[in-house]
Amino acid sequence: MVVSVRELPTPALLLDLDVLEENIARQASRARRFGVSLRPHIKTHKCIEVARLQRSAGARGITVSTLAEARVFADHGFDDILWAFPLIPSRVGEVRELAERIRLTVVVDSPAAIDALEAAGAEVAVWIKVDCGYHRAGVDPAGDEGLRLGERLAASRSLRLEGVLTHAGHAYECRGGGGLQEIAEEERAAVAGFARRLRDEGMAVDHVSVGSTPTMSAVTDLTGVTEMRPGNYTFHDYTQTVIGSAGVADCALTVLSTVVSSRPVTGTSEGWSVVDAGGLSLSKDSGPTGCAPTMGRIYADYDAARLDEHRMLTSLSQEHGVTTGAMAVGERVRILPNHSCMAAACFDRYHVVRGGGVVDLWPIHRQR
Ligand SMILES: Cc1ncc(COP(=O)(O)O)c(C=O)c1O
Repeated sequence: MVVSVRELPTPALLLDLDVLEENIARQASRARRFGVSLRPHIKTHKCIEVARLQRSAGARGITVSTLAEARVFADHGFDDILWAFPLIPSRVGEVRELAERIRLTVVVDSPAAIDALEAAGAEVAVWIKVDCGYHRAGVDPAGDEGLRLGERLAASRSLRLEGVLTHAGHAYECRGGGGLQEIAEEERAAVAGFARRLRDEGMAVDHVSVGSTPTMSAVTDLTGVTEMRPGNYTFHDYTQTVIGSAGVADCALTVLSTVVSSRPVTGTSEGWSVVDAGGLSLSKDSGPTGCAPTMGRIYADYDAARLDEHRMLTSLSQEHGVTTGAMAVGERVRILPNHSCMAAACFDRYHVVRGGGVVDLWPIHRQR
């Protein structure tokens, strides 16, 4: 029996299946157009059912950010997994075990990481991470440090140098689409150039990987690249709408919430409301800068993809969400999170929704 969204207890995480399917199809066709494979980052959804849809649309392999994600997806038949996180030396035993079961690839940007893998006797594929301007992790693609890592891997008896990757997280500073194309080109040029330098030194580099949702929304050239790894595109969120990489109609994930307390408008106050979606439903991601600060946007009309310009979340405590505007106790609102990956990780399951009805429940594997 299909349950109506109107009857759901709140807070509930709603996943709009139509929008999800469109997002998955659009990215798959973009990858095909550029002649690269798509290895989606599944940290966004942590959900086997969503990854299966991505695979059916043509995704090859997946990207994860934790070994727990890697294990769960391996248990469900995903056998080509990139752990796109700087190697954690205390977890090399788990890496070794997993690499015996599936095609696991790990990422390094330091000699210490290579030492740890070799000391554990892990036989595993390794990619070198380069920094394309985000300045979080990765070696300078123009420096010598990366070449030295390549030489160490090429000489290793247990490790196999197979690829290079980068992630243009600085694209999240763009607004209204401006600058995205330039950062996408920076991302491409950095990693393709580094692959060329390794090859010039006689090393084989089969995989050249880029990807963030903002840069993949605007990229015009992927020469020298073999795969893209966006993740957030499955759901999008308020931040993507501000960056200009998606519209409100492209956002698939919302939190359904109820007004539980309300303070009326008075001569000195505009009034406010409290909803049952706090930091443990939306995360405390404070969202994009350069626009009116909000902890989450409320829809004026979900079906018309229209956000309310007056009522929005302004502060969150653990379970309370405080909004502008006095709403009636019992009124239900749909909230567009600032960051869908973080909001999804707050819940145990998606209520999968089509046409106003809940058509399925999909588990979220958020163990760490
Ligand atoms: C290494 C790496 N690759 C790919 C992605 C996916 O980027 P996005 O979430 O913008 O789709 C991320 C996201 O943080 C990442 O850290």
